[in-house]
Amino acid sequence: MARDPLISFDKVWKTYGQGEAQVHALSGVDMTIGRGEFVAIMGPSGSGKSTAMNIIGCLDTPTSGRYDFLGIDAGRLDRNRRAVLRNLYVGFVFQGYNLLPRTTAAENVELPLIYRGAPSGERHERAMEALEQVGLMGRQNHTPAELSGGQQQRVAIARAIVTRPTLLVADEPTGNLDTARSHEIMELLTTLNAELGLTIVMVTHEADIAAYAQRTIGFLDGRIASDTRKLEVA
Ligand SMILES: Nc1ncnc2c1ncn2[C@@H]1O[C@H](COP(=O)(O)OP(=O)(O)OP(=O)(O)O)[C@@H](O)[C@H]1O
Ligand SMILES: [Mg+2]
Repeated sequence: MARDPLISFDKVWKTYGQGEAQVHALSGVDMTIGRGEFVAIMGPSGSGKSTAMNIIGCLDTPTSGRYDFLGIDAGRLDRNRRAVLRNLYVGFVFQGYNLLPRTTAAENVELPLIYRGAPSGERHERAMEALEQVGLMGRQNHTPAELSGGQQQRVAIARAIVTRPTLLVADEPTGNLDTARSHEIMELLTTLNAELGLTIVMVTHEADIAAYAQRTIGFLDGRIASDTRKLEVA
């Protein structure tokens, strides 16, 4: 199925260090991800997954080659312009939930809207809506310490979607969770992809977690070694 490209890598290289210590984290990656896709990124440790995710999320830029995001040559943008792009279009979820301690779930979720200068009434309303979308109604006044790991990750997901991003970047979102909680988080991401049309790019080490995605891209030594799509059921 042809979709609008959202993410496009054209011969992307990412090189760290100099001389003897030089490491090619990405070695000429070509890849296109369409709007609305749910993609899993797999591959051994050090194969370049997080490096690719940092470029996808406009946190970092290629050493050479081109990265287009939303049809914009994002790899050529300066730091400030990339920050604008991220704030408008990208939500991030990580393995560690990165929530502020001693701060309620609702306040954690409101944070990205504070950075945007949204009025407090609207902030609260949208935070409550996002908490409802992740199944955390009634927990808005709990601090992270008063929530389970799975619930903390739901708060982190609510914080990532409260700005209504186009793209969700998730680097090992279930890495700290047990099997049952991991599957619950994947059910949630599947629902957000289907119902909001949210494009999701997720790193995982586990095949049964990747199986929730429509497509799995395998990295090896900074290159794409495989790219497989699930058969679509009519
Ligand atoms: N900031 C950095 N400075 C120097 N080398 C780096 C940097 N970030 C990553 N690398 C190197 O680039 C390569 C790819 O790293 P990357 O973090 O993308 O791997 P990964 O696939 O995410 O691995 P993991 O599964 O362990 O998270 C590795 O060899 C790593 O050591
Ligand atoms: Mg990584």
